[in-house]
Amino acid sequence: MSLIKLIETLPKTELHLHIEGSLEPSMMWELASKHGVTLPYDSVEAIEAAYQFDDLQSFLDLYYQGADVLRDEDDFYLLMMAYLQRCRIDNVVHAEIMFDPQTHTSRGVGFDVFMPGFNRAITEAKQQWGMSVYLIMSFLRHLPEKDAIDTLNQAREYYPMIKAVGLDSSELGNPPENFVKVFAASRALGFKCVAHAGEEGPPEYIWQALDLLHVDRIDHGVRSSEDAVLMQRLKDEGMPLTVCPQSNIKLCVFDHMKDHNILELLDDDVCVTVNADDPSYFGGYLNDNYRALMTHLAMNEAQLVRLVKNSFVASFLPADEKNRWLREIDKLVGM
Ligand code: HPA
Ligand code: ZN
Repeated sequence: MSLIKLIETLPKTELHLHIEGSLEPSMMWELASKHGVTLPYDSVEAIEAAYQFDDLQSFLDLYYQGADVLRDEDDFYLLMMAYLQRCRIDNVVHAEIMFDPQTHTSRGVGFDVFMPGFNRAITEAKQQWGMSVYLIMSFLRHLPEKDAIDTLNQAREYYPMIKAVGLDSSELGNPPENFVKVFAASRALGFKCVAHAGEEGPPEYIWQALDLLHVDRIDHGVRSSEDAVLMQRLKDEGMPLTVCPQSNIKLCVFDHMKDHNILELLDDDVCVTVNADDPSYFGGYLNDNYRALMTHLAMNEAQLVRLVKNSFVASFLPADEKNRWLREIDKLVGM
């Protein structure tokens, strides 16, 4: 089977995807019109044209502004459903999806609005095509830890729907060490923990996420390669990194895809995975990211298969389900 066909055919998971970052310009336009929200754009094309970023913050400014069109339960249902249908096309059989409650609660849109909307879409996807979904509730690190603790408390009724907590938004100047209490409380409640670290921030932030927040995965983590001791630690622990290649190019973490270090990390035995992050803002869903590695980094079949297997190994699925998918991949690769 050709590499391009294998990318499409292999079952995959996606572990680093912000649902608010899957809001397509066309949906943003329709929801703005539905709710009478005035956008600073005069067409869908103008929204697309605005998606040129210098760094993480220049993206986040548009991402939070875009999320303002999400107002009622149906909006969150439509948003989640559109992404899950896209998963079906890309053969993503399991997704661990981040959502940012504070982006919505700060606008007066509560858990009782977005959680039922998400739940309806996830339930339909499970019933209709057997999709498996976990939710990751992410705290915004540019806000005080107190706000994150309030958010954890507000979510109480919805804990059964949530698998893990995360940490996202503006990284530089907002280190993991500021969120020790809320992560300890989350772990005590039984949640898995992830945190964005080492996207723009230094390796020190990755150490903090490991040692102070006790995370189960690092989101991004591409700056690990600057610290040989950290690299050894990641390998010794099998600590996964959820890498987002096209995101890193759009936000200028690397100048060009040919400069990206994901395959070096993989060949060095770090458990790296491929993810889309915010696909509608960064110009590609999951398979587009895999195809970019093929085109610009000459990814070979063995590397593809390892990346895809890592996506299951690094997931929060139970061991028997992971093993079932790993065997299925071996079978498909052997054909
Ligand atoms: N980094 C930090 N915060 C985010 C991102 C990201 O890539 N996407 C959405 N929120
Ligand atoms: Zn992210």
